[in-house]
Amino acid sequence: MQNERIAPDQAQVLVEAVFRLSGISIAATKTDFLEHRINRLLRESGVESVTDFVEQLRTAPAGPAALRLVEALTTHTTSFFRERAHFDWMTTTGLPSVVAEGAGRHQPLTIWSAACSTGAELWTAGMVVDTFARTRNLRWDLVGTDVSQKILRKAAVATFDEDDILPIPDEMRRRYLLRSRTLAVGKQRYRIAPELRSHARLAWANLLDLPTGMALTADIAFLRNVLIYFEPDDQLRAAANVARRIRPGGYLLTGHSESLASPPPGMTPVSPSIYRKE
Ligand SMILES: C[S@@+](CC[C@H](N)C(=O)[O-])C[C@H]1O[C@@H](n2cnc3c(N)ncnc32)[C@H](O)[C@@H]1O
Repeated sequence: MQNERIAPDQAQVLVEAVFRLSGISIAATKTDFLEHRINRLLRESGVESVTDFVEQLRTAPAGPAALRLVEALTTHTTSFFRERAHFDWMTTTGLPSVVAEGAGRHQPLTIWSAACSTGAELWTAGMVVDTFARTRNLRWDLVGTDVSQKILRKAAVATFDEDDILPIPDEMRRRYLLRSRTLAVGKQRYRIAPELRSHARLAWANLLDLPTGMALTADIAFLRNVLIYFEPDDQLRAAANVARRIRPGGYLLTGHSESLASPPPGMTPVSPSIYRKE
């Protein structure tokens, strides 16, 4: 089946819809990207044509087509121990500091991966916290949220390929991964061990409009490699929304290439990608 072309007015409807729903800003002129992603969406969802899809969006701006559009146009690139310096910082500085404020004893020490994608960031944090907590008798939780239901389902299954797990140190692989079934192509799959999975909760959340009923107060929140897709105002809005759910003395981590125009309210920068809540 040949890829269908997308007319400029259709591209405009698509990028406006995804911006309204998730804050992700995509230029309508990125036609190669749009055609590739939208044609895959049409094939997977059985919708006949771009015209039909755009019509579905027009008639139900927050309906199933809109959700599928966000799934199709979001980028989920992630990896274990991505931007490793943050995980080293957790062990040497972040975790001792939040524990000194009572985290893990008065209440569970909570790590939040606020745009968790397939969960590599969440599970990396889990390995680091468990390694730190096991000799200290601390209670701890992991929370992963994302705007894509499809990616959250993947995160919940928590299985990864041989190539995905390469950045994980050997000792952690032995402790936190279980060998899963062998794939037809001969590649081994690995699943996150139940000791980590039992600490984790996954939920749908849009960073620009966090559900008011979401019961969550984090000690360390990861907000990494998602702000780059937002316009500057929405970057500040998303960071403020996350910051509001961080405990005093807790931390917000942003991606190393994502600088905020100003620190989120109530937070002080301690390094270019680490903010502390007063
Ligand atoms: C590139 S991944 C980053 C994953 C991980 N934080 C990391 O640094 O490896 C970006 C994720 O942000 C999610 N996302 C995009 N817009 C969002 C929004 N408005 N609210 C919540 N998640 C969003 C996407 O679905 C995607 O899974």
